[in-house]
This record gives sequence, C-alpha cells and structure tokens, in this order.
Amino acid sequence: MLFYKPLNICSGLLLLCSNVDAQQASNAKLPDPFHFVDGSAVTSKSQWDTRREEINQLYQNDEAGTFPPKPSTFSATFASNILTITCSEGGKPISFTASIKYPSSGQVPYPAIIGYGGGSIPAPAGVAMINYNNLDLAADATTRGGGKFYTLYGTSTTAGAEAAWAWGASRILDALEITPGARINPERVGITGCSRYGKGAFMAGALEPRYALTIPQESGVSGSGCWRLAADLNKNGQSVEAAGNLAMPNTNWLCPAFDTFAKAINTLPFDHHMIAGMIAPRGLYVIDNLDYVWLGPESNFGCMTAAQEIYKSLGATSSMGYSAIGGHAHCAFDSRQQSELTAFVNRFLLDKDVDTTVINNGGGFTFDKSKWINWTTPTLT
Ligand SMILES: *[C@@H]1O[C@H](CO)[C@@H](O)[C@H](O)[C@H]1NC(C)=O
Repeated sequence: MLFYKPLNICSGLLLLCSNVDAQQASNAKLPDPFHFVDGSAVTSKSQWDTRREEINQLYQNDEAGTFPPKPSTFSATFASNILTITCSEGGKPISFTASIKYPSSGQVPYPAIIGYGGGSIPAPAGVAMINYNNLDLAADATTRGGGKFYTLYGTSTTAGAEAAWAWGASRILDALEITPGARINPERVGITGCSRYGKGAFMAGALEPRYALTIPQESGVSGSGCWRLAADLNKNGQSVEAAGNLAMPNTNWLCPAFDTFAKAINTLPFDHHMIAGMIAPRGLYVIDNLDYVWLGPESNFGCMTAAQEIYKSLGATSSMGYSAIGGHAHCAFDSRQQSELTAFVNRFLLDKDVDTTVINNGGGFTFDKSKWINWTTPTLT
C-alpha cells in the first residue's frame, strides 16, 4: 500500500487546502517533481511512490476532481462481443457497454487497447480494440452533470467529464478481470484517444495504474501540454488552447476548483510534466500534429521533454516517446508514425524486447530548460 499524505482531508475543497497550496505559492517555472510539498527531497523509488500519490491528490483536488474507486456493487457479462457492466453505489444502478473487435491473428488472451469513441489509431496486429463510448458516462457539454457517472455519484461530485470518462474506462478493466470469456489479458491493456479524448486518455493513464500503455494523440493542455507553457505561447502571439478555455463555462472537462487556478495558472502546484510522470515507468507514446497549433505542439514538446526527466530518474527513459508530424488532418493517424506505434505496442502490449526510443521533434522546437526548470533530476534507486 502507498502512504497517503494528509492531503486527503482536502477532498476537493480549495479553502480547506490552503495549508497545502500556500506552500506552493506562485511559481512561474515548471514545478519540481522531486520535492514533496513539505520541502523534503525525493531520493528513492519508494519515496517517488509516495510523492506520486501526493501529486495524484493535488491533481484530483485542483484539476481532475475526485476519481472514485470501483463501486461496491459490480458485475459484468459478455455476449456477442459486447461487455456489459452494471454497478451501483448506494442503490442507484447504472449499466453501460463496450464492444470488442478481435484481431485476426495473435494469442488468447489478447492484449487490447481501449479507444475513447473507438480511438483514432489503426488496430495493431494481434491486439483487440475496445470501443469505449465515453460520452455515455459523461456528456461533453458546457454544463456539469450529464451522463451515467453522475447518476451514480450525484451532480455535486467534483469529477469533471475527463475524470468520469477515466472512471468508466477503469470499470472496463475491472470487467475484463472477472470475465475470462472476453479472452482479453487485463494486464496488457492500453488506452488511447485523440483531441479532447486525448486529454481524457492521458488523464486515464495517470489516474489508473493498470494500463500498460497510454497513447494520447493531439491532446494539448490537460493532456501532453503544460499549462504554463501554453500560457507563455499565447503571451508570445500563438493562438493556443490554455487554461481559461477549459474552465467553466467553456467546458465541463475539469473540476470546479480548476476554475480558480485557470485565472492564476502559476499557482497550480503541478504541471503536466508531473502528470505524465504519474504514468512512469509504464509505456507512454505521445502523438502530435504540427499543423494543429491550437493544441500547442510546441508546449507539448516542452512539457514532454520535462516529463522525460521523471522517466529518466526511474531509469525508464525509453518507456516514453514524443512524436510530432504535420501534413495530415486533425486526428488522422499518419502512417509515417506507424513504426513508432508498432514498437510501443510490441514492447508494452506484446512483451517483445524492442527499442522504443522515440523523440521525433518534427517541429524543430527548442525547449529552454534554463527558463523553465530550476530543479535537478535525481537517480532514484
Ligand atoms: C525555483 O523557482 C521557484 C519559483 O521561481 C522558487 O520558488 C524555488 O525556490 C526555486 N527552486 C530552486 C531550487 O531554486
């Protein structure tokens, strides 16, 4: 079991968290992943596990909203390639489905990739694709509370749509674990999505440690982009989606407390290099589109370069890759990235010993470490 720092008492209420957040104050740089909120240093892998849980609590308090565990009553059935999940919490049952498309080759139990809205990557050989209708769990709207997740947890829960989507995807994993008839190996499941669903897949990968591989595509802020880097690009004349665009009333994707941080993003005690770090040392392959400036490929590149430091500290540098390419439509997978995708799938879902070193800075971006990073990267053992 991981240790939970006393941050748990915050339960999403910013005012109660003032003791925690006050210590963070305003920080224009990318916050230090390797020091706890109380200032002590992270020097070992086991301390990183504790720090990771601290970051998880901050993330849920300030951006995602509360990510509930598996509900107390849970069952799943499988028929005609459809997984049907039924659960309740305090007597309010919901039911939702996910369909599985099996590969024409490969070995039972198959690895699988859960795709938000079906996903936007080609099905890899030997891997099942699970079509996840995330909108059934939470509506993508400018008001909060639509969708089955909120039927279960009530409309005053802090979880935004992205956390609700991640919750539903975790229930698919729960269902696979108790449904051998579905012929999927629950220990070899990846998660993917593009654009707003890319943000969703990124969050799912961070909140749910059971995914072996996370593949966010063109996700931007609240995904592979850092809030501070996107704000800086805007200040310098690029039109890039940033915190204000995700606060209410513009989207229902994040928790209500985020709206306050959106107005003063430098007070957020983390940024998304640290959220990518929550995925480490598991597989993370970030796909970007150079032609879609709104989703901030330059911010994503910088943010993932900073995130690479966390993978490096864990001795897992090649477990994360960043690849940016232009010349294709938004969310259209480009076949020039196929070999990279195949390498990540082979290593993390098919257990093959292949090289997944991918830093394809197709945009020719530079990330000014001296401007954004004033911490050093320890070697965690
Ligand atoms: C890094 O910068 C932040 C904000 O500018 C500051 O609070 C912090 O003390 C600095 N850390 C180091 C190690 O210099």
